[in-house]
Amino acid sequence: MRISVIGCGYLGAVHAACMAKLGHEVVGIDIDERRILELSASRAPFYEPGLDELLKDVQETGRLSFSTDVSAAAGSTVHFICVGTPQKKGENGADLRHVDAAMEALLPNVRPSDLVVGKSTVPVGTASRLADLLSEYQPDAHLVWNPEFLREGHAVEDTLSPDRLVYGVEEGSEDHAAVTILDEVYSAPLANGTPRLVTDHPTAELVKAAANSFLATKISFINAMAEVCEASGADVTRLADAIGMDDRIGRKFLNAGIGFGGGCLPKDIRAFMARAGELGADQALTFLREVDSINMRRRTRVVELTRELCGGSLLGQHITVLGAAFKPESDDVRDSPALSIAAQLQLQGAVVTVTDPKALQNAEKRFPELQYEPDLDTAMAGADTLLLLTEWQQYKDLDPFEVSERVNGLRMLDGRNVLDAAKWRASGWQYRGLGRP
Ligand code: UGA
Repeated sequence: MRISVIGCGYLGAVHAACMAKLGHEVVGIDIDERRILELSASRAPFYEPGLDELLKDVQETGRLSFSTDVSAAAGSTVHFICVGTPQKKGENGADLRHVDAAMEALLPNVRPSDLVVGKSTVPVGTASRLADLLSEYQPDAHLVWNPEFLREGHAVEDTLSPDRLVYGVEEGSEDHAAVTILDEVYSAPLANGTPRLVTDHPTAELVKAAANSFLATKISFINAMAEVCEASGADVTRLADAIGMDDRIGRKFLNAGIGFGGGCLPKDIRAFMARAGELGADQALTFLREVDSINMRRRTRVVELTRELCGGSLLGQHITVLGAAFKPESDDVRDSPALSIAAQLQLQGAVVTVTDPKALQNAEKRFPELQYEPDLDTAMAGADTLLLLTEWQQYKDLDPFEVSERVNGLRMLDGRNVLDAAKWRASGWQYRGLGRP
């Protein structure tokens, strides 16, 4: 099948490459010339495990090309909209400028019976609005909302073998012509047993908002428990293990720590609250405000704990922050709790050095005032206190005996609760986790 993918950021670049991997003929389109040049040279413009290899692999087959010209979409049967929907400046709502611009540019290239398939995360109601627009230009084409659930760091596997496929079609009818076409697009994952749900437009849009809100709530729930554990001397990691053994609860996403960040969960829960407000259903989502505030409180808590660990004052303390990315296996620093904590420590007088295996270039653009050191040993040399804030494997593997020889003070704040506390303490370290005694 011939497919166009409008928007080649995180979602679109991975989606285009994966669709070509599934055997389709794909053109990826983006207005950003540099990004298109990189992708055309089989280089991912961000770090995502396996993506460079996949791009090379599919480009050699001739099934994947990239263009800055939206008219390259003409002739495709399916057009995926994969542009970003960032938070509006100074507001909670989502900025739909890129979605609207992509749709407008695409319309003259849509033929009767083509499918326009939205994958971007949008406020509920957007799909129906775009469907009306499409039917004005091309009454026989269809608009489908097909939300994406990929995680950064696992984006390729999540796209090739998703947990589920959701198709939001007009009136939610299983017999809709668009269902047959999308089934052909996803024939490989469907043949491998991926479940597929057909819904109406608003349900499909809400599935995405609800899924991310649930994940954010789960993380903030365990972080709230961490606060109570800290007040009562209990251990939140054991608590999570124990409640997670109940199938109805499950252990995943119950890792207490410095909280969630990234380009999705924070802005998605805010956009969801804003949209519910517009719909007159704001009360239904006031709990998400609490989810957000528990999450932001973690950052302040870490700064306070670090101050305690440093003997009451941060002034002049040499602190090395291990990790800048919002999570491991990613170079994404959007709303990264690690970087935000590093910046607050520096503002309060500490001398902060940040290290990360992949995210330093992006971090430097966002917080140029911080000091960055790519080499882990050099970054730790002479530090009074270490903070583990992104759980990269190399940090989890650190040996407390070996690290002791490099640093100035034996203080470790484990912001992700991933180190063996007993081992670090036995090596003479003052170890602090979050929500752990
Ligand atoms: C999230 C969702 O997991 C994806 O399903 C969704 O498709 C994506 O957003 C999106 O909307 O595009 P992602 O932002 O890549 O994916 O990251 P997650 O793996 O969800 O992690 C989010 C944050 O939560 C990270 O900062 C992570 O460190 C934190 N987290 C995660 C915790 O603090 N504790 C946990 O137990 C799990």
